[in-house]
Amino acid sequence: MAAQQSTAPLARRTVTLGVTGGIAAYKAAEIVRLLRQMGIHVQVAMTAAATRLMSAHALATLSEHRVALDLFDPSLDATPPSLDVSSWGKSQPSREVGIDHIALSRRADLMVVAPATANILGKVAHGIADDLLSTTIMASSVPVLFAPAMNVQMWENAAVEENVALLRRRGYLFVGPAAGALACGETGTGRMAEPTEIVDAVVRELLKRRHGLRVLVTAGPTEEPLDPVRVLSNRSSGKMGVAIAAEARDRGHLVTLVAGPLRCELPLGVERIAVTTAEEMQAAVETHEAEADLLVMTAAVADYHAKVVSDAKLPSGQKALSVDLVPNPDILAAVGPKRRERGAITIGFALEIGADGDARARQKLEAKGLDMIVLNDATRADSAFGGDTTRVALLTPEGDAAQLPAQTKREAAREIVRRAERLCGFLPTVEETHPS
Ligand code: C5P
Repeated sequence: MAAQQSTAPLARRTVTLGVTGGIAAYKAAEIVRLLRQMGIHVQVAMTAAATRLMSAHALATLSEHRVALDLFDPSLDATPPSLDVSSWGKSQPSREVGIDHIALSRRADLMVVAPATANILGKVAHGIADDLLSTTIMASSVPVLFAPAMNVQMWENAAVEENVALLRRRGYLFVGPAAGALACGETGTGRMAEPTEIVDAVVRELLKRRHGLRVLVTAGPTEEPLDPVRVLSNRSSGKMGVAIAAEARDRGHLVTLVAGPLRCELPLGVERIAVTTAEEMQAAVETHEAEADLLVMTAAVADYHAKVVSDAKLPSGQKALSVDLVPNPDILAAVGPKRRERGAITIGFALEIGADGDARARQKLEAKGLDMIVLNDATRADSAFGGDTTRVALLTPEGDAAQLPAQTKREAAREIVRRAERLCGFLPTVEETHPS
């Protein structure tokens, strides 16, 4: 595969968060916190009304940046620097004075307005730029995502509906609003989307507009029904697959996660496809693997399913019960060799117990047409199923074996994704090769 140029990982992206004067403004704090948690730089701009509802100090502290509030620098009103003779020659006038709206829009990779009131939607739809935020949006050439929040009557008002339709036609993006209880005591559509949903949309947009790899990851166990209430499954938590998906996302790749029933939180900013059985997982993998540069099959797919799934609950209290089990499809064995033929990279996992685990993992590496297999000896306490740490070895068809130390699943994921990038011919960024 041709080498691709890497782009900045998530940690070097900047998001401008516009906060307008809806009661949901208090949720801006959580949005900033979640974005910062992923290392994204956040620059907040607030309208005057927003500052009545949410503290600019809190948002400045959380974002670690001054919050932009005014089109005009208020300090210039008191002592215009041009008249303050004592400071002449001592300092250069700030290049940001008076151009905050331009600086804010140029510095950002994306703008998100949350909450977005009927007022800001109306202003942007009709070209009114009368304060810092509306001017910044108008001066912006990056995607703008609105998270509207307002009373249901306002949301359903014909003017707002037309403004939203107009903004959509012009390429502005929307997340929410949701239906539910509103701050005004009424119920209906108008509730701002939850901060996690907004951050999820922001990260997906950021990644969509870059040229990272397309990565498909599977995670967790599958569940095979025996009857309407009982299932056959395993103790996989899904933490390893989730760590790989989050690490790939943070490194700037566009990630799709096919997840069985997980016992851990799903990562934000990745496309998530929920499945239950091995058959469903196979269908999801087969649909999405064609466009994936990299497939990482972390899932602990159940090896068997019931030959016949009982329609009614199987009776309890019997002396013995036998259920005929038949093997599940081997998803990797079906897609691995095809992917290999067309040069797409595939990584599998092998959970092995005992001395000749290495040899068995190598057999799988070859039989399933893999570029790398991650061997996990689950008999060790520091590498147990469901834990937060793992001790894995990375085997390749060339005969290489790299034994990694016991470490967190996220640390192991970093090493796996780094090696996968190299297998995909993906070049590390200059910043990564020469850390400053
Ligand atoms: O043969 P074994 O189950 O040990 O192989 C493990 C690898 O194969 C894992 O990457 C797992 O996700 C994948 N697998 C699969 N379909 C199955 C069983 C395992 O894709 N039915």
